[in-house]
Amino acid sequence: MRFQGRAVVVTGAAHGIGLGIAAAYLAEGARVAMWDRQEEALIGAARALDPSGTRTLTQAVDVRDGVAVSEAMDAAMAFAPECDIVVNAAGTYPSHPLLEMTESDWDAVLDTNLKGPLLVTQAFGRRLLQRKRGGSVINISSGAAQSARPGAAHYATSKAGLNMLTRAMALELAPHRIRVNAVSPGYVAVDSPFNPLSQAYKDAITTGIPLGRAGRPDDIARAVLFLTGPESEWMTGSIVSVDGGSGAGRSQLPLSRED
Ligand SMILES: NC(=O)c1ccc[n+]([C@@H]2O[C@H](COP(=O)([O-])OP(=O)(O)OC[C@H]3O[C@@H](n4cnc5c(N)ncnc54)[C@H](O)[C@@H]3O)[C@@H](O)[C@H]2O)c1
Repeated sequence: MRFQGRAVVVTGAAHGIGLGIAAAYLAEGARVAMWDRQEEALIGAARALDPSGTRTLTQAVDVRDGVAVSEAMDAAMAFAPECDIVVNAAGTYPSHPLLEMTESDWDAVLDTNLKGPLLVTQAFGRRLLQRKRGGSVINISSGAAQSARPGAAHYATSKAGLNMLTRAMALELAPHRIRVNAVSPGYVAVDSPFNPLSQAYKDAITTGIPLGRAGRPDDIARAVLFLTGPESEWMTGSIVSVDGGSGAGRSQLPLSRED
């Protein structure tokens, strides 16, 4: 029970990686404010994790909406005044070839994946300052920040921006004892109804993973818990890859020598 007496806000908690992170904090004794814009899925997910409903608060929030985020942060802090951790996991990764991408396709991805973490972190940071408390923020980035792929110019750009936003927020919030780090996952199999992927894409990306399997939400959650626990107290502004080796290089190339 490493997080007994602590509380966390997790965005994108109705499904996938965010849900796995919420589950991991609950298992370690924390209380969790679960945010998502898919209210029905969120309520179902929270009920499965916490049938008594005493250790979770479900909040239907769209992280692109600054007013909604601010109100939700007040409600989360009222539910759990001890809250000193936020995990920005809400995200979207649709596929749009560059020349077909509309302005609204671009805006939806940048607003969710880049502006959302900014708005949530601002709302959280302002309240921690009022309370004169330190805390921890985790942004869920992506290997796409380093390595572009077709159909994902908006997504890769949003995550590259999120890595820099992580560093910029870390610098400005360090004097207030608020640490900001990112976890950058490789492919994690979540079979999301909100972010569907083709079978061809899933097969191709899994084949290239050096450690031989797709990631699971708990692979990511373990890194998030480490980065918000006392073991990482001297870490801020770090981008930690958790990707089965995908970012290490081109594992599918043959040896270059003639045998
Ligand atoms: N699954 C992967 O392979 C992978 C790899 C790298 C990074 N990521 C990142 O991990 C995060 C979680 O993705 P996932 O794969 O678990 O997807 P998912 O679809 O399973 O979960 C994403 C959740 O975010 C919510 N969400 C989306 N937009 C929102 C908004 N505007 N406001 C509030 N909630 C919103 C969705 O409703 C959904 O419940 C994302 O940031 C994604 O970019 C995923």
